[in-house]
Amino acid sequence: MGKITAAITGVGAYLPDYILDNDELSRMVDTSDEWIMSRIGIKTRHILKGDGLGTSYMGSKAVIDLLEKTNVDPADIDLVICATVTPDMMFPSTGNLIAYKSGCRNAFAYDVSAACCGFLFALTTASKFIETGTCKKVVVVGGDKMSSIIDYTDRNTCCIFGDAAAAVLLEPDTEGYGINDAILHSDASGAEALYMKAGGSAYPASPETVANGWHYVHQEGQTVFKAAVSKMADVSVEMMERHHLTADDIRYLVPHQANLRIIDATAHRMGLSREKCMINIDKFGNTTAATLPLCLWDYESRLKKGDNLILSAFGGGFTWGAIYVKWAYDGGDFSK
Ligand code: UT7
Repeated sequence: MGKITAAITGVGAYLPDYILDNDELSRMVDTSDEWIMSRIGIKTRHILKGDGLGTSYMGSKAVIDLLEKTNVDPADIDLVICATVTPDMMFPSTGNLIAYKSGCRNAFAYDVSAACCGFLFALTTASKFIETGTCKKVVVVGGDKMSSIIDYTDRNTCCIFGDAAAAVLLEPDTEGYGINDAILHSDASGAEALYMKAGGSAYPASPETVANGWHYVHQEGQTVFKAAVSKMADVSVEMMERHHLTADDIRYLVPHQANLRIIDATAHRMGLSREKCMINIDKFGNTTAATLPLCLWDYESRLKKGDNLILSAFGGGFTWGAIYVKWAYDGGDFSK
């Protein structure tokens, strides 16, 4: 029997109904459709409305969609890992809540926190449970309700982010399909360039933390942009070289959707045309841990068994990395 790899055997997603477009944002802060489209590339983003609804609401809907599509009994899921930086609460974990709400009653569950790279880190962790034979069916969710930590009076951040969750199913494969390799990095020297300062143990919520705006995302845009452009491209090219992959060998780059200019720069360094990049930032914005599985969901019908994909991201932490996936099924069977 060949080596066991973790194959992605299905994708599900949930997008909230409410759509925040650039015209509405232009009435909230001093910005314009022209600025947002030329500097970032976003037209619309989905926003979760409703009291008491958090990331687990979206995550559980994404998992239910995934298990219905793949015709898998939730009781057969062994493990649920949720990547998020906007958990419903400090504890219990959002993964735990998602498993419960989606009927995965026999699964153990937990969260992984790596901001925009959360899905890469969670997918890598999940793949080890499959490769070692510990688990047979693992669900990896990427979900963030970014609107819960965005200051909608700050034009530097409020145009960028959206809310969503998406999930993949991992199962064992012995023909080399699935997660072939991962290169992951973290470096907290960049921590304060993109972070939410308060609400944890260092600065618990207080009238001062609220007054100071420390419960909102703070981003030094240009610092993050420069690091993202170089690190995302470096790690993606390193992955290509490690596996002797040319641009022709790659079906799609699956890039984190933070800024169209970062995606273009990464693709350029890899020698890929725009047609070989999964892009949906225009519709959904930056949904942090959800961007990569949301791309897979969006492009699923165009994927074919054996397609080589490079998933690549850079984000808060700093964190960055790339995963080489050999796609395991023809996606045309699913009509969306
Ligand atoms: O997902 C996690 C990782 N995050 C990223 O990868 C994000 C990386 N950073 C970026 O994508 C970009 O830096 C931003 C999109 C955040 C900002 O774009 P930028 O081209 O770097 O703009 P900037 O911050 O250098 O600002 C340029 C100008 C400034 O005005 P002045 O000082 O030149 O007069 C800003 O005040 O644009 C202004 N500006 C805006 N103008 C209209 C900033 N935000 C806006 C806005 N509308 N929404």
